[in-house]
Amino acid sequence: MLLNKPTFRWIHKLMDQYHTPILCIRLGPSTHVVAVSSPDIACEFLKKQDEIFISRPDVMSGCLISGGYLTTIMSPFGEQWRKMKRIINREMLSPTIHKWLQPTRDQEADQLLKYICNQIEKQDDIVDGGLINIRALSQHFFGNAMRNIVFGKRFFGQGMEDGGPGKEETEHVAALFVILKHLYAFCITDYFPWLRWKTDFDGHEKKMRSAIENVRKYQDPLVDERIRMWNNGARKEKCDMLDVLIKLESPKLTPEEIKAQIVELMIATIDNTSNAIEWALAEMINEPTILKRAVEELEHVVGCKKIVEEQDVSRLNYIKACIKEAFRLHPFVSFLPPHVSTMDTTVAGYFIPKGSHVILSRYGLGRNPNVWVDPLRYDPDRHLRGEGKQVVLTDDDLRLISFSTGKRGCTGIALGTTLTTMLLARMVQGFTWEAPGNERFIELVENHDDICLAKPLVALAKPRLPHHMYPI
Ligand code: HEM
Repeated sequence: MLLNKPTFRWIHKLMDQYHTPILCIRLGPSTHVVAVSSPDIACEFLKKQDEIFISRPDVMSGCLISGGYLTTIMSPFGEQWRKMKRIINREMLSPTIHKWLQPTRDQEADQLLKYICNQIEKQDDIVDGGLINIRALSQHFFGNAMRNIVFGKRFFGQGMEDGGPGKEETEHVAALFVILKHLYAFCITDYFPWLRWKTDFDGHEKKMRSAIENVRKYQDPLVDERIRMWNNGARKEKCDMLDVLIKLESPKLTPEEIKAQIVELMIATIDNTSNAIEWALAEMINEPTILKRAVEELEHVVGCKKIVEEQDVSRLNYIKACIKEAFRLHPFVSFLPPHVSTMDTTVAGYFIPKGSHVILSRYGLGRNPNVWVDPLRYDPDRHLRGEGKQVVLTDDDLRLISFSTGKRGCTGIALGTTLTTMLLARMVQGFTWEAPGNERFIELVENHDDICLAKPLVALAKPRLPHHMYPI
């Protein structure tokens, strides 16, 4: 592991070298890590034997983020996971709550158009347009949306006059991405547990602790204050997700559970979404016919007289296909969070011992040449099924991994789909997008240490709607 960093590239290289869709390596003295890149085998793990591969590993990153496994995503199988998953499913992300929070999401979608217009206006040197950093824009869109949904306010501090993030939000989002970078990131002491908390061999622990502190120093005081308000009668009506969490009755959550779960909700919302938007737009700019078809779909579905709204999302099949294609070709991370087996079993003819860490390769599945024709080509059409059928961002056959499936599958499908589709739809409807300056193409190159776009996407935006249609 020390000689072959980054570990995810090394594992994929080994799979290529051995021409195998399933590979087991032993990390440390006793951890079997099983990587998978075939949908059939992936379905055996997550559909046929879902009950067995239902746990998560005990790792430094998961333990710190979840406040010692108080939450949903990181907690190993057991009562705490069951309790939190039920709460997230039924109380936080239910269809009723989704509908209740629509005005908050609408507010954010309007802010997005205003913010891009303000950025364009500020850049006098560019005729009719302005350069927009799409990575910053999308990360902050999802960060703002989630702060608004959870805390009822988009800014911890004052924010900026142009609607952009202030220093508090910039620090908050940056810290969330440091956490994401080190989550399930093959930290050495995860495989030599007796060294954990004694040595920080690869420096992950220090970075993780500092990032979590930076996130929680903004969030936790708001939770404490809100609990006080409910206790002293200053708050009487539920207005956001924090109120819902505090007012749960059976079971009641402790302040520590609420605080840890909010950290997890924040990171669950911001990573896949913002990364997919950045890659999708970069690919669309390089292939103008795709961008044109997306615009045509919006004109057809929404018309030219109104701004796209959430009620249109179900009919924006091409836009959703563009996002789904970004999930397939450019996932945020190369592997799904590990699924740990709770007993010995056999999968696809291979013996898998209890405690194995099964990691489905989002990268390998999405680019598997036995599944996808011309897999490296960005081609949204491959997701358009028969006339009249809706495109959904999920893939239950695990030919690509967006939200995954089974008991550990994502609970945020509706929220994730709505926020991501609205962001891309508003961007494409509201503005034309081109490569900046004299560049003809966006350079579609990945980082070496992760699989994000190596250089943040900066694109030239020009308003394409009459002035009066933009929210003031
Ligand atoms: C486009 C957006 C999103 C994508 C692509 C996505 C993807 C995923 C993936 C791949 C997993 C892991 C599944 C597995 O291990 O098999 C997951 C788990 C989860 N996601 Fe999402 N997610 C998104 C948005 C959200 C949102 C908005 C929320 C909530 C606010 C959320 C909450 C969760 C939770 C609670 C789990 C953990 C389930 C468990 O371990 O039991 N996700 N998500």
